[in-house]
Amino acid sequence: MSFFLVIISSCSRGPTPLALARRLRASLGPQALSLAMIVHMIRESRARIDGRTIRYLDSGSGWPVVLLHAFPLNADMWRPQLERVPEGWWFIAPDMRGFGPDAVDQAAQATLDQLAADVGALLDRLEIEAAVIGGLSMGGYVTFALFRQQPARFSGMILADTKAQQDTPAGLEGRRQMIDLARTRGAAAVADSMLPKLLGASAAARRPRLADRVRAMIETASVPAIIGAIEAMIGRPDSRPDLSRIACPTLVIVGEEDVPTPVGDAADMQNQIGRSRLVILPEVGHLSNLEAPDGFALAISDFLASNL
Ligand code: MLT
Repeated sequence: MSFFLVIISSCSRGPTPLALARRLRASLGPQALSLAMIVHMIRESRARIDGRTIRYLDSGSGWPVVLLHAFPLNADMWRPQLERVPEGWWFIAPDMRGFGPDAVDQAAQATLDQLAADVGALLDRLEIEAAVIGGLSMGGYVTFALFRQQPARFSGMILADTKAQQDTPAGLEGRRQMIDLARTRGAAAVADSMLPKLLGASAAARRPRLADRVRAMIETASVPAIIGAIEAMIGRPDSRPDLSRIACPTLVIVGEEDVPTPVGDAADMQNQIGRSRLVILPEVGHLSNLEAPDGFALAISDFLASNL
């Protein structure tokens, strides 16, 4: 007789789910246990820091990996990765100010340096000295800012669908138009305008409901946070001079169909970082972790297993 066992991990203490599965398999025998499927339960917490509340999601247990979200999404975009945490790792995904379900309560105007300092403060609160830290797109810009502030905090880095250089004149003009759009027509209009650029053509055709999930995340963002983040991105420094100083193992991931931060930008960035590897996900656009959750999770787990 065989049956399926689903192990839900909801606690960061005690045996890890894989250890538990192995123990059960050993005591029940292989005939009794044909499949152990590990499903990590995602915890949602809030940390009160300097008079503000930072919501964060986390799952797994072990060495920390911090994942910073794209603009104008929130920590929920990392749910597919939080469900696929490799054994021995603890994934943490915070909301940035003004994004996520607490958006309305947040003072939103913040520079990328302030957003990075928020991440540092959350790590202090969680008593994490060093972690693998990374982000997707704007999350990557915040990763660079945190690296400039606290390089010793990085035991590894993940740069997904992001770029090191500043905006082109056309990019800056697009950002000013986006500020006007947010101010006059709100987050829903920003979602309409951004969605075709965020999702690759293949994923849009293959997974039509993904656009609804992304739209729902964008619509929770507060308009001041959207405008504040755009202004912060306009004012961001050139991170290219920092690339050669990144000494920790680094994973650069990019979707083959990414338009805002294309493969060429990712390859240029990876060429400047000593201990780095580049993974290009086929038939995937800018939101590569949502469009190809399995491929993205595999890239991360391979990187963690072989470098750290
Ligand atoms: C993002 O996905 O975070 C944005 O595309 C970043 C940007 O606009 O540069």
